[in-house]
Amino acid sequence: MKKLQFLLFSLLFVLFCKVNAQTPYDDPKNHACLKCHSSQIISFQNEVTGTEMKRLMNPYYIIDTTALRMGVHKSFDCTDCHSYDYTKYPHDGNLKLQPMSNCLDCHGGDPTYAQYQFEKIDEEFKKSVHYKISGENFSCTRCHNQHTYHPTARNSSSVQEIVSYSNSLCLSCHNDMKKYELVAGHENPQIIKIHEWLPNQELHFKNVRCIECHTQVTDSLMVSHNILSKDQALRKCNECHNTNSRLKASLYKYENLQARADNSFVESLFTNESYIIGAQQFPLLKKLSYLIFFLTLGAISIHIVFRFLKKK
Ligand code: HEC
Ligand code: HEC
Ligand code: HEC
Ligand code: HEC
Ligand code: HEC
Ligand code: HEC
Ligand code: HEC
Repeated sequence: MKKLQFLLFSLLFVLFCKVNAQTPYDDPKNHACLKCHSSQIISFQNEVTGTEMKRLMNPYYIIDTTALRMGVHKSFDCTDCHSYDYTKYPHDGNLKLQPMSNCLDCHGGDPTYAQYQFEKIDEEFKKSVHYKISGENFSCTRCHNQHTYHPTARNSSSVQEIVSYSNSLCLSCHNDMKKYELVAGHENPQIIKIHEWLPNQELHFKNVRCIECHTQVTDSLMVSHNILSKDQALRKCNECHNTNSRLKASLYKYENLQARADNSFVESLFTNESYIIGAQQFPLLKKLSYLIFFLTLGAISIHIVFRFLKKK
């Protein structure tokens, strides 16, 4: 009993700390950069006329603060990566030319991040069609926004969340004319038109990732990064709609989703004439979600009590 109490208390404590963890971005309105970079309208002192001015913000320079605080680099402050000279506005035009660090500059060869296999990802990426066509002009940062990126496939247990996050990385460019042209120098082909041959396109794009059809399945990597050219893309329905679905080796290979594959979820999905998603539930997950809910509730109550005490 004592042990259990201790365990519960430690859990609550950890949750309590998480709830209270401060990041530099907690107060965007008063942050030296975010007061402008999270807002559509900026105001600043015009030093020439001595008056207060208001301007519209370039929408590509507005940072989503919710996503920022979920990102892996949330404990950084802006000026850890960008020059401190940005604290001045108008920004010095030369700052644009400052080279920015890439993922490998910080993560390459660092054993702390071995589980992510940055070097192997880099190797695979260099074989991809993007790198072949655009070279250094196409970097990791084109897909991974350093402000907001957070690994999802290995952490989430929701297929739809994993799929939508992964696809959003591709669509942020393939569905954005300007971003696409920035790399390609020509207009983007319409994703929906290209995939007209695929029935129930919307349902497919909700349940399978672009990379399922556009990369070779690799066992050694969590997320395969070798995007193949379009003539090598997967078109055969029964690669997935089959007892031995390739999804078992790609989307459903994650430990967090193994239960689906183990419960022969995939098989029942694809051998059955009517594929019904959500037809099976997982009791363990359900119990776990209750546990997390009550623990969080507990942590919040403690938090409130502490705040109350502090006020006094
Ligand atoms: C007064 C509002 C304001 C503040 C404060 C501000 N910025 Fe900016 N920032 C802008 C605007 C507007 C642009 C668009 C380009 C321009 O007008 O210079 C911009 C552009 C940028 C760019 C794009 C590259 C470039 O040079 O054009 C970066 C990076 C940047 N800001 C970083 C920062 C950082 C880091 C901070 C905090 C240390 C900061 N900014 C504070 C308004 C602001
Ligand atoms: C982990 C490093 C890192 C941190 C922290 C960081 N940035 Fe950036 N930022 C980058 C990189 C890298 C780019 C260049 C992206 C590219 O174009 O390849 C960039 C680009 C930008 C741009 C240009 C628009 C864009 O998205 O390409 C703005 C504006 C900007 N950052 C503002 C900020 C502000 C404001 C903060 C703090 C809230 C911040 N950055 C924190 C790495 C960082
Ligand atoms: C300026 C150096 C720098 C750059 C550039 C950078 N990172 Fe990081 N990254 C870090 C540091 C430091 C941490 C640890 C942050 C912490 O623990 O709060 C981190 C954390 C991470 C994590 C979480 C690791 C873990 O398990 O806790 C991932 C994943 C990650 N970065 C991916 C990337 C990707 C992808 C890129 C390129 C788009 C990138 N990083 C660019 C320095 C960097
Ligand atoms: C064409 C787009 C694209 C490019 C380019 C790209 N990635 Fe990724 N990367 C993805 C997608 C999609 C995911 C899956 C996102 C998720 O669910 O976490 C991912 C996942 C990752 C992960 C997490 C894998 C894991 O084990 O959880 C890391 C680390 C990573 N990428 C690093 C890199 C590095 C380093 C580069 C450059 C050498 C790079 N990526 C280039 C699209 C890309
Ligand atoms: C079910 C498999 C499948 C899925 C899922 C899928 N694709 Fe495709 N995709 C294909 C095939 C097959 C082609 C080749 C079509 C052709 O050449 O007529 C293709 C072609 C393309 C092309 C080449 C366009 C051109 O003609 O230049 C792009 C870009 C593309 N897909 C992006 C995506 C993106 C982004 C996603 C995710 C939102 C996605 N695909 C999801 C199978 C798929
Ligand atoms: C920053 C923009 C950008 C992002 C992000 C991006 N792509 Fe692309 N992609 C391009 C450009 C540009 C081309 C075409 C280059 C050309 O034809 O000139 C392309 C081409 C392709 C092609 C067709 C290759 C061929 O044979 O013509 C496929 C397939 C593709 N991308 C899939 C993806 C997938 C899957 C993702 C996400 C994991 C993704 N892309 C992310 C810009 C992007
Ligand atoms: C990358 C794997 C993959 C490929 C390739 C693929 N599918 Fe699917 N398909 C799925 C998944 C996953 C679902 C979603 C199952 C669900 O949630 O009902 C689905 C759903 C469907 C549905 C909807 C079933 C329903 O319940 O309404 C039809 C019809 C379908 N696929 C036909 C096809 C055809 C025809 C092709 C070939 C042109 C094809 N699929 C290629 C994975 C795939």
